[in-house]
Amino acid sequence: MGKGRQLLLEHINAPGINTFEGYRQHNGYKALEKSLKMNPTDIIEEVKKSGLRGRGGAGFPTGMKWSFLARPEGVPRYIVCNADESEPGTFKDRYLMEHIPHLLIEGMIISSFALGTRTSYIYIRGELMYVYHILEKAIDEAYKAGLLGENILGSGYSLDLYMHIGAGAYICGEETGLIESLEGKRGNPRIKPPFPAVKGVWDCPTVVNNVETLAAVVPIINMGGDEYAKIGIGKSTGTKLISAGGHINKPGVYEIEMGVPVEEFIYSDAYCGGIRNGKKMKAVVAGGSSVPILPADKILKTPKGEPRLMSYESLSEGGFVEGTMLGSGGFIVMDEDTSVVKNLWNFTRFYHHESCGQCSPCREGTGWMEKILHRLLEGHGKMSDVDLLWEIQSKIDGRTICPLGDAAAWPVASAIRHFRSEFEDLVKNPEKATRDVKHYYRVNNLAEA
Ligand SMILES: Cc1cc2nc3c(=O)[nH]c(=O)nc-3n(C[C@H](O)[C@H](O)[C@H](O)COP(=O)(O)O)c2cc1C
Ligand code: SF4
Repeated sequence: MGKGRQLLLEHINAPGINTFEGYRQHNGYKALEKSLKMNPTDIIEEVKKSGLRGRGGAGFPTGMKWSFLARPEGVPRYIVCNADESEPGTFKDRYLMEHIPHLLIEGMIISSFALGTRTSYIYIRGELMYVYHILEKAIDEAYKAGLLGENILGSGYSLDLYMHIGAGAYICGEETGLIESLEGKRGNPRIKPPFPAVKGVWDCPTVVNNVETLAAVVPIINMGGDEYAKIGIGKSTGTKLISAGGHINKPGVYEIEMGVPVEEFIYSDAYCGGIRNGKKMKAVVAGGSSVPILPADKILKTPKGEPRLMSYESLSEGGFVEGTMLGSGGFIVMDEDTSVVKNLWNFTRFYHHESCGQCSPCREGTGWMEKILHRLLEGHGKMSDVDLLWEIQSKIDGRTICPLGDAAAWPVASAIRHFRSEFEDLVKNPEKATRDVKHYYRVNNLAEA
């Protein structure tokens, strides 16, 4: 849960909230009833007024994205809910779908009505089969209640909602990779432009939105866009789900009002409850594995010495040299005993494994970085390896078809920027090398990098 306004998780502990009846008892589908009496363009206006920004990672304004959707005569449009959620450290969408599936379904019906789609999809990560079954049951209940299918609640509007299961590839969370996969192909990202708003699913105009983004449309309609915009701070309006993990006392999913001080989020009992075993905090990865890692002093204070807040603007203050990003809200806290290099190897190994292979800098560079980190951790590193790592990441950043390349480069750049001495220490004192990396490859029956 958390403290402050709870717009998404308010009824998370209500018995039966995962069923249609339980959801109904807590104002469920009231926003849909209200929406169906509204003009679809007014719904888009409310979302614009709310200031809602996409919760999938990039924080793009949702109302603006919706208004870009092309509307050629006689061509179908689609909404796809991105429920792939494979970003390491991020588990908020899964939590929401597992416990309040109807909130997502209600948000999807309202959004589909606003954008005039007749068919919408939920693309769900393949490993989440149990969540798939929960959603499947909820969709069945919605059809039986006349909230999906023909002539929803007598409004004349009809919508079919389908689920599509991915095969468990991180790259299928990237919106164009997702669209390729939905079409039955290998999930290779497309070159943009054209953007999905013009050419998406089957070359038709498509909006891809994150689970939390679509769920947030429900409270926005219930309370009105202006009221929603009053919550939060600056251009970070409303509430945000944060999946907090790592060396904290109370890992879990928290709904925060945007603008909570980072220090309060980490140390207050209402949220993470401080660092485990009385240890000191060393570093934080604030928005899923793709965002720059920050040392304790920099995550708590902005470059101006002000308290850092949980908002898009405050976390990015100082750019990539001093700041980071809110990203997908996967908040990973590391204590003083953590090896930043080992953590980085773990992330880099992931990106190497998940690279689709279309672009040489990403395909080759992620592998080279994994290899160098591997040898540093095995005690065979050279001083020049640190500069080599820096050089490789800089040749990936901004030179690829999709942002997976950037996502692989930024953690490397930030770890070297803030923790260079840890890399060098492994070279100067090879006896400190962890030497358990080989073990990882062996027990998982993988070829070593
Ligand atoms: C490699 C990669 C993986 C991504 N994975 C996800 C994901 O699992 N879920 C998600 O919502 N967005 C993910 N995104 C972002 C999507 O491309 C897209 O921006 C997002 O779904 C848009 O939704 P929003 O506007 O509601 O945030 C990913 C992006 C990249 C580059
Ligand atoms: S950046 Fe990587 S994942 Fe993205 S298209 Fe290129 S090779 Fe594929």
